Amino acid sequence: MAKNCQKGTSLVAKKEKKMDFKEQLSQYQNMINHELEKYLRKQKCPEEVWNSSMEYSLMSGGKRLRPILTVATYQLFKDDIDVCMPYAVAIEMVHNFSLIHDDLPGIDNDDFRHGRQTNHKKFNEATAILAGDGLLNQAYMVISSDFEKCLKDKENLSEKQLIHYLNKRTKIFTEFSNAVDRMIAGEYVDTEYEGKQISEQYLDYMHENKTGALLKLAVRMGAILAECAEDDLEKLSIYAEKIGLAFQIKDDILSEEGDEKILGKPVGNDKKMGKCTYISKYGLERSKEILDRITKEAIKELEEYSDKANFLRELALYVQNRNK
Ligand code: IPE
Ligand code: IPE
Ligand code: MG
Ligand code: MG
Repeated sequence: MAKNCQKGTSLVAKKEKKMDFKEQLSQYQNMINHELEKYLRKQKCPEEVWNSSMEYSLMSGGKRLRPILTVATYQLFKDDIDVCMPYAVAIEMVHNFSLIHDDLPGIDNDDFRHGRQTNHKKFNEATAILAGDGLLNQAYMVISSDFEKCLKDKENLSEKQLIHYLNKRTKIFTEFSNAVDRMIAGEYVDTEYEGKQISEQYLDYMHENKTGALLKLAVRMGAILAECAEDDLEKLSIYAEKIGLAFQIKDDILSEEGDEKILGKPVGNDKKMGKCTYISKYGLERSKEILDRITKEAIKELEEYSDKANFLRELALYVQNRNK
């Protein structure tokens, strides 16, 4: 009897320990939301509305995929996740800048995101432009604070260690600013080709840049900060490139056949605007086949990793199967 009880308890303990993917995802999301809250500006000041417009978009219920990728990749190698938090925050700020500007009348002219009014609808166009600018710059402020912190910690570090820390961060800073540049370039190509025919090559170029660049950066920042080996960085970068493309193909599919209420943003707008998408190029069924293939290829890149990579494997499937 006592033996049975023991067995029962250990089974429960085991069950408690093994969180399923959805629980883990929501735990990560809560952690990122909590971290972002630390950077909100609540003080009374003349630019109070600008501050609340940034908060409005930043805290409006995004999936937090990019910062989660940074943290989850870091955790493949190390556990002290505080090290990567500033970079997780910074990439989410840039992402929200991109969404605010993407929704503007001059770009996608969308009225809804995350189930509520887009920034320029809630506030006005000038405020939304400046909210985007503000978030973009705040991302760099967060990164430079991390540099400063490193220098302040100087007393506890040897000169060699300090140079090593700063080298790593300089590499990340360069990759960060390059990825932001690529995301904006991709957004430009997206607007440039509206209503026009696009080649397969340019369509992939657009997707790789407007969406893929930040997703790849997210994974690489986690990996570089965790000081992984070069071949790990290589494999994880390929995984990231694959899920980056998969993510935008799925975004294109959802714009065609998603449920507006679940998605929280308009369905059918890509078609209405004459956007070049995987659907306009290959049709719905072929796009889904390509998405399936790329997702499998992404997961294959994680083959050599243990159970530790299960979350990243499931995340690839989530990207493929998500409905929002
Ligand atoms: C939407 O990204 C814009 C694209 C790059 C396709 P997300 O789906 O990740 O945006 P969140 O989850 O609303 O922040
Ligand atoms: C958004 O692309 C990409 C960036 C904001 C960089 P889309 O215009 O396709 O994404 P949604 O559908 O508005 O989120
Ligand atoms: Mg767009
Ligand atoms: Mg858009």
